[in-house]
Parts: sequence; structure tokens; C-alpha cells
Amino acid sequence: MKATIKDVAKEAGVSVMTVSRVINRREYIAPVTKEKVLRVVKKLNYMPNKVARSLVVKKTNFIGLLVPDIANPFFGDLVKGAEGIARKRGYGLILGDTEGKVENEKEYIEALHGSICDGIILVAPRIDDSLILELNEIIPIVLVDRSIDSDRILQVWIDNVDGAFQAVEHLIKLGHRRIGFLTGPQDVQNSFRREEGYRRALKKHQIPFDRDLVVIGDFYLETGQKKLDTFFSIKPRPTAIFASNDLMALGLMQRAKERGLKIPNDLSIVGFDDIFLASMTDPPLTTVCHPTVEMGIKAIGRFLDRLDDIEDSPLNTNLANYLIIRESTQSIIE
Ligand code: RIB
Repeated sequence: MKATIKDVAKEAGVSVMTVSRVINRREYIAPVTKEKVLRVVKKLNYMPNKVARSLVVKKTNFIGLLVPDIANPFFGDLVKGAEGIARKRGYGLILGDTEGKVENEKEYIEALHGSICDGIILVAPRIDDSLILELNEIIPIVLVDRSIDSDRILQVWIDNVDGAFQAVEHLIKLGHRRIGFLTGPQDVQNSFRREEGYRRALKKHQIPFDRDLVVIGDFYLETGQKKLDTFFSIKPRPTAIFASNDLMALGLMQRAKERGLKIPNDLSIVGFDDIFLASMTDPPLTTVCHPTVEMGIKAIGRFLDRLDDIEDSPLNTNLANYLIIRESTQSIIE
């Protein structure tokens, strides 16, 4: 006969609620208790199912979605992608803007866990890997736009090294050798992976890395506006700039225009993200497509698959990115 949750509770000497908490990873459970329950689950070959679980777990049908900067259209698209699927599958989203600050992320997770929502889609560039894994034991998390070396957490991410490599190699193939790089913030995984892509492309084409061509940014539009002048003070000045995200690329373009420069004749610019504005600028921006809407769709999809015990749904999803060549880049080969 098929074992029930009650059989597991009895054999493990704990309450049905404790078994449910262990299975659904909803709250903190002492490691000894957790181990004991999981041992019995295995011994009795207990298969939790949605119906059984819904009898013991108070579901909220809400999922928390935490992003670092809702003003960045990249995150707006992600929310849109997630929202559409959540609604179709009978869930609502609770949105939080953490300003990318670890203390805000922790506060939100603390507030959302328990009876407010069934899990969290977390876009948190700064919080420690170990802390994320710990929090994932308390409330199910899907980690988005970042990867952790673990098979204990759902993750949806892209290969930032490869995306940046494609962007810089495109510029090199157009004949650029002095390629400026406007980085993201220095404490964020995506930033240093994009720098790695920049360096790899230079190395592949035997272009020496020049520290002077690297200007520290932070993913904000205003920084692009300010740093254009910094790039133009470098001697000899870069003929092209790779910006670590589209917002900064847009800022660079705007300031370049103020200075009377023509893009791409005087300067080629490449961004990263392909936010909806990228195709509307004058000229339209060449950029790396970061499949944002798809990220939101996949994040919520994987999470709900897990709630529904769909076993072949992958834990780790690496989405493809690719370069979109528009008109902000131009060959300088004569
Ligand atoms: O936080 C801003 C950036 O991080 C976005 O522009 C996107 O590139 C993401 O990875």
C-alpha cells in the first residue's frame, strides 16, 4: 500500500505538519529532524503529491518577486514575463524593489516567508551564495540572472562571458582596436563575467589588455552620460565602447550627441540587454540580447513545476543570448 504523510510522521515520531514543512521547505527545521524525516520518506518510498500537500500546507497562491531596480526596463520586462505565466497558472505576484541592497533583500525575504507567499523569485546580485542557499531551505527560491555552484536551488541565468565576448568580437571584426569598456558595479557577478568576456575577445585577437580603457560604471544611465567624457580624455581615445548594459550605452549616446559627435561615424557603441528602448534610439543600438521576458517566464514556470512535482523540469536553466547588430556600430577598416 502507498505510504501516506501520516505514516511518515508516525514512523519518524514527528507531526504531520513537520513532515510537510520538510517536504515543502517552507520554514526552518532543525537539521536532525529534517534528516530523520527524509530517511523515513526514503524508507517508506513516500511520494508527496499536490493534493496531499495542499491538505497540510496553507497555500497562498502568491509568489514574491524581488528585483534590484524596477526603473531599469530590463527588470520591467522580467516582471511582465513572470506575471503572464503566474496569472495563467492561478498565481499572483508580490513585487519588491530592493535597490540591489543586501539588507533590503534580507528584509523582504524575512517579511515574505511564512504565510504571505509560496516562494520567491529572487534577482539579487549582491547577497552571499551561502546565505541564498540557507534562505532557500526556509522558503523555496528561484535565483534569476545569476548562477551559484549548487544543485539545491532553482536557477535561471545567461552566459554573460559569452554575451560580452560576442559584443567585443563584433567590434574587433569591424577593425576597432582601442575598445573602451564601461563596466557594471564591481561587486556583482554579471559585471565581472562581462569583463571576462571583454578580455577573452581581446586575447583571442591578440589585442593587449589596456587598463586605461576600462572605466568603472554601475548600470545606471546617468553614469553613461558622465563617463563619455572620461573615455574622450584617454589618449589615444577609443574608437568604440562596449557598455556593460543598455542604460549606460544610452547615456553614452546621449552625451556623445551633446558633444556633437556622430554615432557610429565618430564612435561605435555596443550595449548589453536589448531593452525595448534599444531599437528606438537614433541610431538603433547594437546590443546583446538578454532574453529578459523569457527569464521571467522560465523562472515562474520552473517554480510552479516544482510545486506541482513535475520531476523532469530542470533545476538549472541557462538561456541563450546573442548579438543583435543594429546601426550604432560601424567598420573603421579603410
Ligand atoms: O542590474 C542591472 C543589470 O543587471 C541589467 O541591466 C542586466 O544586464 C542585469 O544583468
